[in-house]
Amino acid sequence: MSIISSQTPDADTWSTSASNWWRQAAVYQIYPRSFADSNGDGIGDLNGITGKVPYLKSLGIDAVWLSPFYPSALADGGYDVDDYRDVDPRIGSLADFDKMTAALHAGGIKVIVDIVPNHSSNRHVWFQEALAAPKGSPARQRYHFRDGKGGKGELPPSDWTAAFGGPAWTQVDDGQWYLHTFTPEQPDWNWDNPEVREDFLKTLRFWADRGVDGFRVDVANLLVKDLRSELPSRQELDAMDRSSGTHPLMDRDEVHEIYAEWRKVFNEYDPPRFAVAEAWVETASRRAKYASPEGLGQAFSFDLLMADFNASQFRAIITDNLEQARLTGSTTTWVFSNHDVTRHATRYGLEPLNGRPGKPGVDWVKAGGPRQALDVEGGIRRAKAATLLMLALPGSAYLYQGEELGLHEVADIPADRRQDPSFFRGAEYDGLGRDGCRVPLPWEPSGPSFGFGANGAHLPQPDWFAGYAASTQEADNASTLNLYRKALALRHELQGAETLEWKDDGNEQVLEFVRPGGWHVVANFGTAAIELPEGKVLISSAGIESGKLPGEATAWFRA
Ligand code: GLC
Ligand code: CA
Repeated sequence: MSIISSQTPDADTWSTSASNWWRQAAVYQIYPRSFADSNGDGIGDLNGITGKVPYLKSLGIDAVWLSPFYPSALADGGYDVDDYRDVDPRIGSLADFDKMTAALHAGGIKVIVDIVPNHSSNRHVWFQEALAAPKGSPARQRYHFRDGKGGKGELPPSDWTAAFGGPAWTQVDDGQWYLHTFTPEQPDWNWDNPEVREDFLKTLRFWADRGVDGFRVDVANLLVKDLRSELPSRQELDAMDRSSGTHPLMDRDEVHEIYAEWRKVFNEYDPPRFAVAEAWVETASRRAKYASPEGLGQAFSFDLLMADFNASQFRAIITDNLEQARLTGSTTTWVFSNHDVTRHATRYGLEPLNGRPGKPGVDWVKAGGPRQALDVEGGIRRAKAATLLMLALPGSAYLYQGEELGLHEVADIPADRRQDPSFFRGAEYDGLGRDGCRVPLPWEPSGPSFGFGANGAHLPQPDWFAGYAASTQEADNASTLNLYRKALALRHELQGAETLEWKDDGNEQVLEFVRPGGWHVVANFGTAAIELPEGKVLISSAGIESGKLPGEATAWFRA
């Protein structure tokens, strides 16, 4: 514990120390294929991002995180990587990447790239080599190849299912089977293999040497697997404890040895490279291990993303996450939307889950997105209130492209235009897939792809996108975009020590707190307007009328 506390910066050094830039950063996630298309081929690209640097600057974010842009057959939206150290030619080149990084850096914006270490694609040279090599060969040992069961090995080694549906094992020509947690096009690496470990260090250095400031680590909890003994059945697996660090497939304690090695590489750089783990683990204390300063340093918390728009749920989550951050020496992360979940404007426009099991928004997407079940304006109103609350919290705020426009999920994408494997493979947990939050952004109210590019878009954009265009919102002082801009600019001015103090006014529908420096925040989750405390209103998510904050709104003040 002593090492951890010695790394915790003291209250006033966080913003001035170059190595702590990430602690309270606002990070904007770009899904490159759907952000901006510079050459009119319908696919967003790196030059498109470079062209939008002025937009990103005016938004006021501190960093961008780019989802994978590596060569890929797109079996899983680019999370099936053919080559970790190159750019997909449909998206650009390494030279374009350097240009983009230079432009972002010149605009004061850091660059975070996505590292996908659990699996490669089946087109990766090492997988191709493994297929061509005989059973038991060193090439096969970089992945998880095994003989099958049954008289002739005709049955898979176990009955496990893959995350997007279907079996987790696929048979190759000579009869062996390989393991894939996700699609068959995403074979899992064998992290016991020293060459695999070495190759990822090379990848980290490759991007860090190119000036990348940090890494988002995909399914960071899955890398290490224990397949030594007789494989348990799916049912046995489901019954196993996932929080002891000894589950055969997930969140094993040994995974942290890998990240300790990565940390040494990150610390070779000045400032040290940053990393954030995507780790959907069982408990906050398991998550804390990924956020350790001897490991990746930060981990996503998806607690708010899974919650209803509800004051008591929010309060409990905020309190708990801040406490966890204090214990690790990292900072908390807040996320409402990303490329894997139903957009939060839509989730908050639907009937709340109220403790029912399920992933928010998924049932609605599965039902084809019935418009009558969605409160379009209410969803945006609640999303704005929640976001303004989130942007006032200590820690890092992760924003997903399009949320600053108040975009809703696109639910009615025709089957023949869908791309997400979870749609085609009948995934249990993602329902109809994640394409609905990956539709290319509307930059203009008209044109062939609403200003995304000179021609069409690789996923169809609905007509109602016209009403959400960035260019229209720029000109409208009361738009969602301008709320984000003002809030992000103010956040920079106001942000200080990583603490908050709750105030209790006895109304359970209201969350109220003060940050150091007199930054006072009131979030009204109820529908009735409330009296505002004394002080100057700095910003609010909805108009303030006769000194009252309307229902479902957040305001920042200074006493
Ligand atoms: C992560 C990504 C998701 C991807 C999966 C497999 O959860 O966020 O998009 O499908 O990992 O790489
Ligand atoms: Ca393009």
